[in-house]
Amino acid sequence: APRKFFVGGNWKCNGAGDDVKKIVTVLNDAEAPRAPSQVKGLLRPDFAVAAQNCWVRKGDAFTGEISAEMLVNLQVPWVILGHSERRALLSDQMIQGLKVIACIGETLEQREAGTTMEVVAAQTKAIAEKVSDWTNVMLAYESVWAIGTGKVASPAQAEEVHDGLRKWLNTNVTPAVAESIRIIYGGSVNGANCKELAAQPDLDGFLVGGASLKPEFVDIVKSAT
Ligand code: G3H
Repeated sequence: APRKFFVGGNWKCNGAGDDVKKIVTVLNDAEAPRAPSQVKGLLRPDFAVAAQNCWVRKGDAFTGEISAEMLVNLQVPWVILGHSERRALLSDQMIQGLKVIACIGETLEQREAGTTMEVVAAQTKAIAEKVSDWTNVMLAYESVWAIGTGKVASPAQAEEVHDGLRKWLNTNVTPAVAESIRIIYGGSVNGANCKELAAQPDLDGFLVGGASLKPEFVDIVKSAT
């Protein structure tokens, strides 16, 4: 296969409880977790590390946020909240040195209106305007209606969009990028539905929410084709 299958587990704000300990154990085959951060590993123990932001609620499905409970779990005892310098922009500078999973996807209303492809193409265009080197970028197609709902896209629905995205990239970026970029699928992927999705030619992996907290995540990781 031209592209290496990728499976991401998105724990959202669930990264602190017993479920996580269980799945980490399953994944690590009972190895001890690594030091939580480089700073903590290097710093004298009488200094304390603070995070620069945290999620305001208890946990649950809020991609991109780190809850207070997760910080405590990582042995980060302090947090700065509400700093005026906080920004949420995708820029070239943010991408430099980071691997990026750029998420796109239509709402139920947009799908029903038949505008899915236009919507995801416009979202991909906005990303493409910020990216010059695609080496460390992948696209995650996640329909809003499929996220956390148990309503997974059918393999044919997913393939249609992934194939359409590759064609868009072929025309609007370069044929080389269209061929090499990984387009992964997210939205209610589980141990039972992953195999058939993974078999689609333009589907190069998964971004998994709820099921990444369960032992079946291992089945999803192993669904690579
Ligand atoms: O990033 C993951 C997606 O939001 C999918 O979440 O697997 O819980 O539907 P889900």
